[in-house]
Amino acid sequence: GSGGKGHSGMDHSSMGHNMETGSNNATNTGSTERLTGTAFNLTAQVSKQELAPGITLPVWTFNNSVPGPQIRVKQGNTVTINLKNELPAPTSIHWHGVPVPNAMDGIPGVTQNAVQPGETFTYTFKAEAPGTYWYHSHQDSANQTDRGLYGSFVVEAKDGDKPDRDYTLMLDEWVSAGTGDKGENMAGMDHGTMNMSGSNTSGSSDMGDTSSGHGGHGASNEAGMNMGHDMSMYDLFTINGKSGSAVEQLPVKKGEKVRIRLINAGFLSHQIHLHGHEFKVVTSDGQPFNNPAVLKDTLVNIAPGERYDLEFVADNPGQWLIEDHSGGKAGQGLKAVIGYEGASAGTDKPDVSDSLPLLDITRYGEASAAMFTLDQTYSKSYDLELNTAMKNGSMVYTINGSIFPDIPPVNVKKGDTVKVRMVNNSPMDDHPMHLHGHFFQVLSKNGKPLEGSPVIKDTLNLKPGEEYVVAFKADNEGNWMFHCHDLHHAAAGMVAEVKYD
Ligand code: C2O
Ligand code: CU
Repeated sequence: GSGGKGHSGMDHSSMGHNMETGSNNATNTGSTERLTGTAFNLTAQVSKQELAPGITLPVWTFNNSVPGPQIRVKQGNTVTINLKNELPAPTSIHWHGVPVPNAMDGIPGVTQNAVQPGETFTYTFKAEAPGTYWYHSHQDSANQTDRGLYGSFVVEAKDGDKPDRDYTLMLDEWVSAGTGDKGENMAGMDHGTMNMSGSNTSGSSDMGDTSSGHGGHGASNEAGMNMGHDMSMYDLFTINGKSGSAVEQLPVKKGEKVRIRLINAGFLSHQIHLHGHEFKVVTSDGQPFNNPAVLKDTLVNIAPGERYDLEFVADNPGQWLIEDHSGGKAGQGLKAVIGYEGASAGTDKPDVSDSLPLLDITRYGEASAAMFTLDQTYSKSYDLELNTAMKNGSMVYTINGSIFPDIPPVNVKKGDTVKVRMVNNSPMDDHPMHLHGHFFQVLSKNGKPLEGSPVIKDTLNLKPGEEYVVAFKADNEGNWMFHCHDLHHAAAGMVAEVKYD
């Protein structure tokens, strides 16, 4: 994304996605619409969006906007979301991180039929665990999520203290050369041949199909090979669907307490730097750290699918960036601007320093009683070895040497305590592993027990060579996906199932 100085490119009104919140809260989500209450309508539809001044791409959206509206509910409420599919392809919604009943998890071929064009499906579940979550398509998801079918989902604590400002930033990357006709081509693609579980559901799983998942806004190559994991094709980086000179603006006033909910909806990791302020990282994947320390000039690495909530007091008037420092192309353009009331523009500059320390969540916050310990007895114990291989000329991503659906499931029964050791033997690739339907506790990294706060997550990034041990309680019956959230990797095999007897 590029574009000149100034804000002349900020009028997106013709596309109807730049709505003000209209919410009666003192806070807002920037330009993303916020929906509150208990009943919601999401329409999946094809649209176009100006992601940076002068760069308008075909997108697939919920309610005509990327991101789709924020759905914001109260802990304890039962919520209903009606999905209407106006896309030219089947779709579904997965509530990433929310421990919903299995039938509401949104996995075509496993938990429901894919929602066909013109059809509707109603999701309903009780929002129990407060936190920052998100929703996205789980049908042909490497393609559909990449095209923009995602939004944020926030469960407000019953009696949590409310910040004065509560912003949500959804991070994503695009291929700026995408053109409208590719959108039409992709719309006609048939992904209906896979059936994950052999159950009699129509539609298909989006995973384990090595021929799909590389659409990437028109980036598929001529030969039609699986090149989906070539991340260099992405050259436009957005926060809340905005980039270039029209970046997301986050107004604050001096003295206010500000929460920033970071959600990575893309396939690349980012190292986020908040300029000008001390801050705390208060949650990871929506789950709180115990007594987190104050940080300054520390990068927060956010992998695909992960969420981190930052909190700070606005005590340093001016205009400040919150931006990606991961270097290379990903460092260019992924930013938002925190602007104090009355501050003049341009008082902060992007910087490309990559020498800042990185937050290590395995030694952050204060130790406290936790659900699990390393040396307790577990009723089940599994090893997952993550790796990369070539198969028939395509790159595949394996678990224990196999690709989905040939990976033996993690079999559990209700009440089990389950320990899972994961090791990433891929030479180059990160694997952000996401477990559906459950939270897990991180017990150790590279053989070292965690120091500091217990860390509860649903998405955990493993860099090449890293080993983690996690544990979870089998308390939510069903068939659940456990997969890499680089959705290209999932599409190319890296999907296990957790199956209850
Ligand atoms: Cu966020 Cu199985 O997905
Ligand atoms: Cu992966």
